[in-house]
Amino acid sequence: MTEKVNANRRNLLIATSVVGAIGVGFAAVPFIKSWLPSERAKAAGGPVEADFSKLEAGQMLQVSWRGQPIFIVHRTPEQLAVLPELNPRLKDPLSEHSIQPPFAKNIHRSLKPEYWIGVGICTHLGCSPKYIPEMVPQPFDEQWKGGFYCPCHNSRFDVAGRVFKGSPAGTNLVVPPYMYVGETKVIIGQLAEGEA
Ligand code: FES
Repeated sequence: MTEKVNANRRNLLIATSVVGAIGVGFAAVPFIKSWLPSERAKAAGGPVEADFSKLEAGQMLQVSWRGQPIFIVHRTPEQLAVLPELNPRLKDPLSEHSIQPPFAKNIHRSLKPEYWIGVGICTHLGCSPKYIPEMVPQPFDEQWKGGFYCPCHNSRFDVAGRVFKGSPAGTNLVVPPYMYVGETKVIIGQLAEGEA
């Protein structure tokens, strides 16, 4: 995508870390980068730039925007393939009653299918869900296909942040406004021209 943003307005990515990986090697939690936003960015709560070029398939990176955790997940082909079959188990599979930019009102809830970007705050009472990428049965869900689990009151979300029936959370995880300014670089908190 063409750069359309004044470089002076870009703010830096906040502390980041990789918190998950699929399968063997899951315990390895490589640290990617750590930056601090400018004072102006913090004061304004303005857009932040996130570069996830080093994020491997299955991993998640966490950044911060307006004091909120933002999850960036590099989804595997297997994680994407399972999304349609989960629809019958979800409360809002088509995101008709959830909050996201228009470009994310689709089954993968993102601009690029392989990357999901969402607010890491449970839509029930605001806890931070855990990213559990393994597509194997879990104590809280025997049919688990990877996603986010909120341990506060057992809300479950798939890897597109779509909430499962039976969860106390009523809507899908929020997708923030964002735009690509490179293959694996986005500005969070800003939409591309024409996307508003
Ligand atoms: S805050 Fe997540 S389930 Fe209640």
